[in-house]
Amino acid sequence: MRHLLTLDDWTPAQVASVLAFATRVKKQPAAYADALRQRTLLMIFEKPSLRTRLSFETGMTQLGGHAIYYDTSTSPMGAGKETLHDTAQTFSRYVDIVMARLFKHSDLEEMARHSRVPIINALTDLAHPCQILADLLTIQEKKGALPGLKLTYLGDSLNNVTHSLMIGCAMTGMRVAVGCPADPAAMPHPDVLARAQALAAEQGGEVVVAHDALEAVADADVVYTDSWMSYHIPKDQLEARVQLFMPYQVNAECMQAAAPEAIFMNCLPAMRGYEQTADVIDGPQSVVFDQAENRLHAQKAVLLELLGVASE
Ligand code: CP
Ligand code: NVA
Repeated sequence: MRHLLTLDDWTPAQVASVLAFATRVKKQPAAYADALRQRTLLMIFEKPSLRTRLSFETGMTQLGGHAIYYDTSTSPMGAGKETLHDTAQTFSRYVDIVMARLFKHSDLEEMARHSRVPIINALTDLAHPCQILADLLTIQEKKGALPGLKLTYLGDSLNNVTHSLMIGCAMTGMRVAVGCPADPAAMPHPDVLARAQALAAEQGGEVVVAHDALEAVADADVVYTDSWMSYHIPKDQLEARVQLFMPYQVNAECMQAAAPEAIFMNCLPAMRGYEQTADVIDGPQSVVFDQAENRLHAQKAVLLELLGVASE
């Protein structure tokens, strides 16, 4: 059974191939309008979502299939009345494929162990692979070939998006600089960093961590940031996190230190005045809504790929 729990479940060649397929699906949506006829996607959410829910549900409509939105607060699993094991055994009898947004990555792994249908990670504490496939598609569209491009990520780096960016960019031969506080609570998980560095070494790129924002962002082709208040962070931590991350805010000075044609990315949701200033996210270098749109195209390719529908 093939899943997409992290990008590292797939080889660099498989990642490159799904990106190429996403480009074809985006160019010729009509060619896939019946590709998933009579197929059902189950979408399990333990956390809020705008983009993930809408892009997966719309994607299934566009492929001729159906999607079920399932909020765990209304489920026996969420009420503590049913195990992950029984939930996975049961959904495998109804649906063709599942995407799940769960707090704990270990829960997603357990779900995948007991599932008889493919499982797609729609964000856990560890990884957000669908986001990064959309991001790589966007970077490719804006900048051309990925190998050798430099992406700088600034801000909270003990973070699902940061982790998947490091892995995904390393797989494609990009160079990554992460700029974050020198505090283990704000730095990438050491195991993910080591894996990303090993992949980068194989693919001719690099992954480095720096603690000076302007140094990290020097000559970057892509400047990327994510919320300082991820869904799982309690609201009462806002003030402390603003203090911690403000030196890594993406502002005009940062964008000036990057390459002249640099693009600005944020997976969204964004808070203006926090992880980036309004002039940056609303300015001419920002591609955040193209990035959001590409969730749709990239995920359609992932669904088709995991369901074994010909990628020609
Ligand atoms: N970027 C992203 O996953 O957005 P949502 O939380 O709105 O799904
Ligand atoms: N790091 C963020 C990503 C949101 C799409 C979070 O986990 O909330």
